[in-house]
Amino acid sequence: MMQAKSPRERADGVPRGASEYMEWAKTRSAARFNLASSGVAAFPLAELGARIEDLEICGDSAYGYAPLQERLARKSGVDPDRVVHATGTSMANLLVLAATADSGDEVLIEEPTYSLLVDAARWLRFEVRRFPRRAEDAFRVDPREVERALTPRTRLVVLTNLHNPSSAFTPPEDLRAVGDAARSIGARVLVDEVYLESLGVLGRPSGSAAHLGPEFVVTSSLTKAYGLSGLRCGWAVADPDLAHRMWRLNDLFGVIPAHPAERLSVVALDHLDRVAARARRILETNADGANAFLAARPDLACSPVDGGMIAFPRLLRGDVERLCHRLREAYETTIVPGRFFGAPGHFRLAVGCHPETLEGGLERLAAALDERL
Ligand SMILES: Cc1ncc(COP(=O)(O)O)c(C=O)c1O
Repeated sequence: MMQAKSPRERADGVPRGASEYMEWAKTRSAARFNLASSGVAAFPLAELGARIEDLEICGDSAYGYAPLQERLARKSGVDPDRVVHATGTSMANLLVLAATADSGDEVLIEEPTYSLLVDAARWLRFEVRRFPRRAEDAFRVDPREVERALTPRTRLVVLTNLHNPSSAFTPPEDLRAVGDAARSIGARVLVDEVYLESLGVLGRPSGSAAHLGPEFVVTSSLTKAYGLSGLRCGWAVADPDLAHRMWRLNDLFGVIPAHPAERLSVVALDHLDRVAARARRILETNADGANAFLAARPDLACSPVDGGMIAFPRLLRGDVERLCHRLREAYETTIVPGRFFGAPGHFRLAVGCHPETLEGGLERLAAALDERL
């Protein structure tokens, strides 16, 4: 007899209000050669130049700590009333989702994507529809596919730029076309730009979707491209009304952030050029190494790394789960199985780690691939 699902369990067996991927990332991705974690290697506090006088335990951060709001607004090129500081892109995404749709509303999310976006939308009891980004089309966003998938009940379209997992870049003209389609039915577009930061780091800044029109909401953080994950300095940029709703909603969650983290985020933003210069050295070195590796592997199909921090190769022979297991058990190396993105024939390879970690990890990945599992 079929076991009835508890109301807290989804059809796939994962508890409602949980993420299978995040549990895996927290408990299974650590390794000597970790090519699973997607950010630039952690920036050391000692190199940030923070003084104890820069910090304080408590401060005035009711609806944003003003010095941080100003810096985030300047960085985003918008007025401070459009910026909502949040605990990482993660919380910024949750706030955007919860402030733009209601239980039962439709949300249209790219596929494949960062699974937390889907998990959060389902937890909020949204009706989740997907639009495809196809491997054979280098995972580009096709605005016509988005338009086809919209319905009168769609409240929000969700995509990542650069794309997680493939790092595909969506240019402003395609975003505009998506925005036009969304606006025509009164929907908004959430663009998670946490990986777009890497283009800025590499000296190839590309404009944020925040400037494309009021239907766009963007989220980002200092986590990935700068190696500053522990600061949890994330933000959303929205029109002022939506930003205000998000601030009010945040009162139900964290209320206010840890003030020392806000202070340290101010210091980090004041020294962002230096932080970015280190990230740039890492990313440039690693892109060369990763691209040489990918070009030499006839058993992998993958676009070259070009400005991103992750790649999403397709394994042309063998089984990805067996490869991941073997790598972890025999080679002290981790990559992310594609099943977490709904693409079991692929794996995600991160290239933001220390160059010697990437080098060692790729050597081991090559050895495991040569075993033809
Ligand atoms: C697309 C995307 N958005 C958000 C996050 C989470 O970012 P943060 O550390 O800023 O919360 C991740 C982490 O992997 C991600 O891939």
